[in-house]
Amino acid sequence: MTSAPRPLRLDKTSSGALRLFVLDQTRLPYEVHWLPLDSLDAVAGAIRRMQVRGAPLIGVVAAYGVALALSRNARDAGLARAVSELAGTRPTAVNLQWALARMQQRLIPLPPERRLEAAWREADAIAEADAAQNRAIGQHGLTLLQAHARERSNQKDRPLQIMTHCNAGWLATVEQGTALAPLYAAHAEGMALQVWVSETRPRNQGLLTAWELSEAGIPYTVVADNAAGFLMAEGQVDVVITGADRVAANGDVANKIGTCLKALAARHWAIPFYVAAPGSTLDFQCADGRAIPIEARDGDELRLVDGLDAANCPQRLRQISQTEPVANPAFDITPAELVTALITERGIAPASWEGLSRLYPELRHESA
Ligand code: MRU
Repeated sequence: MTSAPRPLRLDKTSSGALRLFVLDQTRLPYEVHWLPLDSLDAVAGAIRRMQVRGAPLIGVVAAYGVALALSRNARDAGLARAVSELAGTRPTAVNLQWALARMQQRLIPLPPERRLEAAWREADAIAEADAAQNRAIGQHGLTLLQAHARERSNQKDRPLQIMTHCNAGWLATVEQGTALAPLYAAHAEGMALQVWVSETRPRNQGLLTAWELSEAGIPYTVVADNAAGFLMAEGQVDVVITGADRVAANGDVANKIGTCLKALAARHWAIPFYVAAPGSTLDFQCADGRAIPIEARDGDELRLVDGLDAANCPQRLRQISQTEPVANPAFDITPAELVTALITERGIAPASWEGLSRLYPELRHESA
């Protein structure tokens, strides 16, 4: 049995030091390039530049970033600097803050000489837990997909048509992904699928999803973000599944910009809209979506487009002049009432405080 693909791995240098390698997501889908990360600054820079992206993966890589930082300075000041540097890299995905808090909780009580080994172990534990959670999300999501496939048993001749947004697959996590985990599970069960992959402007993370699905042999079609409403109206979407960067205590969901428009269209056409996310994406300290910080990214992400030239070499082209005013909010909030249900590693939950706190009773005390 081949092992599930992962976007990160650890290696030892000739001097015996551990070094992290990540798949550089700014070079995909055009080139597969493993980027070595051997310091705090390298990790923070890779997260900022989105060479590493996706809420769960950002958290895991930041945890390894703490370990790399401690290999140079394991005293309190070294730990504090690492946490503050990494925490400032991406504001919306709460998995980052969650992983850093977990590292601090484990490391602060230890004397400096015991911290480095404990940091590597804790980062490994966070990574393995993420992989296990995604497998569980896949199985819970699979039961939903099977139920939807049964509902349309009068149309057995066509595959279940699923729309997703951004990339919430294995590239964005340690293994399997969140929104894509149920698709991988369904494909493994032999269910016929057709996936609508929305491009996800401005950074086109949909192309990462297309790459993943093509590697897995799952049929898909890339569409412009604006095609979603039309396809839903035409009856060509049975289910929408997205990931999340943060879920507030009331079930409001922050996810890649454009998610809310899909949820609105899905509601109009009575199409189920699911959000798949692990417990590390829940933030009970945010009472609702208004408390979630929305990252504003560089306008060059709109002004410039990446692709291949006629000789198949990666190139960047300018489509908007440098002086043109642009705005680039990276995430939006989908109100809980538009979310049919959340798919978590602990099961399916209504997108509400009651639904979430039933599955995650330990978070109740964190409510704002
Ligand atoms: O800006 P990105 O590419 O890091 O945003 C990623 C998303 O919005 C994903 O949908 C989300 O992180 C879930 S990933 C499993």
